[in-house]
Amino acid sequence: MKLNNPILVTGGAGYIGAHACKALKRAGYSPIAYDNLIYGHRSAVKWGPLEVGDISDRQRLEAVMHEYNPMAVMHFAAYAYVGESVEKPSKYYHNNVAGTLTLLEAMRQCGIDKIIFSSTCATYGMPEQTPIAEDHPQNPINPYGRSKLMIEWILDDFSKAYDLKYVALRYFNAAGADPDTEIGEDHDPETHLIPLVLDVALGRRDQLQVFGTDYETPDGTCIRDYIHVTDLAEAHKFALEYLQAGGQSNFFNLGNGNGFSVREVVASASNITGHDIPCIATDRRLGDPPVLVGSSGKCRQILGWNPVFDSLDTIVASAWRWQRKLKSDGR
Ligand SMILES: NC(=O)c1ccc[n+]([C@@H]2O[C@H](COP(=O)([O-])OP(=O)(O)OC[C@H]3O[C@@H](n4cnc5c(N)ncnc54)[C@H](O)[C@@H]3O)[C@@H](O)[C@H]2O)c1
Repeated sequence: MKLNNPILVTGGAGYIGAHACKALKRAGYSPIAYDNLIYGHRSAVKWGPLEVGDISDRQRLEAVMHEYNPMAVMHFAAYAYVGESVEKPSKYYHNNVAGTLTLLEAMRQCGIDKIIFSSTCATYGMPEQTPIAEDHPQNPINPYGRSKLMIEWILDDFSKAYDLKYVALRYFNAAGADPDTEIGEDHDPETHLIPLVLDVALGRRDQLQVFGTDYETPDGTCIRDYIHVTDLAEAHKFALEYLQAGGQSNFFNLGNGNGFSVREVVASASNITGHDIPCIATDRRLGDPPVLVGSSGKCRQILGWNPVFDSLDTIVASAWRWQRKLKSDGR
């Protein structure tokens, strides 16, 4: 099928992938979502065709690539539950690492030479200094983070040996929802803080479990760098344009560069929703660093990206509108 400026978006029916499809469409590209729907939602694919398929299915991938002739791939498809990755590492290495290898082979076969990859701050492991810059050592402490670091290495090796250019974007905590409330976060199971807090406000949960209140942070709870999913999606468009303009393979942090504690998120949510958010303090989780904040200077400087929705209240308010919409739809 002939589409204008086609881009293949693996995981395009998922949370971040769907927002990227919207950003691409707005910028004049034609996103083709490629997703096996294991976690994605058919209803989140609104800005181009959905091709149901698995990234480990090379024949299917090549058929879709031949059909649309994409100029680049944005690769979101992965498993991303840290705890599960510790219990089932094989599942993570198969899907994330072997699946990506199959995707890269299909790209080579079809002559597609640009890829934007969803990496993660989990590739850094325990921070030695904060904010974390891109040259911070990468020592991931769980199979999920390791699977993503392995993919970064594969991309680096492929880009040196073959005709491939990549941008790896190391996300911090994606949060919030589309400002038009057309799409938003809908994970099952949900492990991310903001939707969990809003579940309490909506009465879906009785209370929020706070893992550790005795950290060396101003209020004792963990601090994270929340980045609005629309800002994150826009950064992919900038990364694509960077590669199209002849930019070399590169990697960037994607965060706002400032952090908020669990208690600050709860206070913001309580204020925005008008509901009390009862919390119960429980033990720290193994491997949770007290502070995870990324420096975002490289991305701003080289890609020309700047976050627009970077206040915590804006992020929480957009997620709240989305969660209320889900609830009014009977979810
Ligand atoms: N959400 C975050 O805060 C965050 C942070 C860092 C990195 N990331 C990365 O960003 C990407 C997207 O995350 P998300 O939160 O949108 O997750 P998500 O689960 O909502 O989206 C992932 C999508 O990939 C699809 N998928 C998984 N395996 C597949 C396969 N083998 N073949 C085809 N489709 C497959 C799923 O059905 C889903 O739609 C992931 O790679 C994740 O590791 C996310």
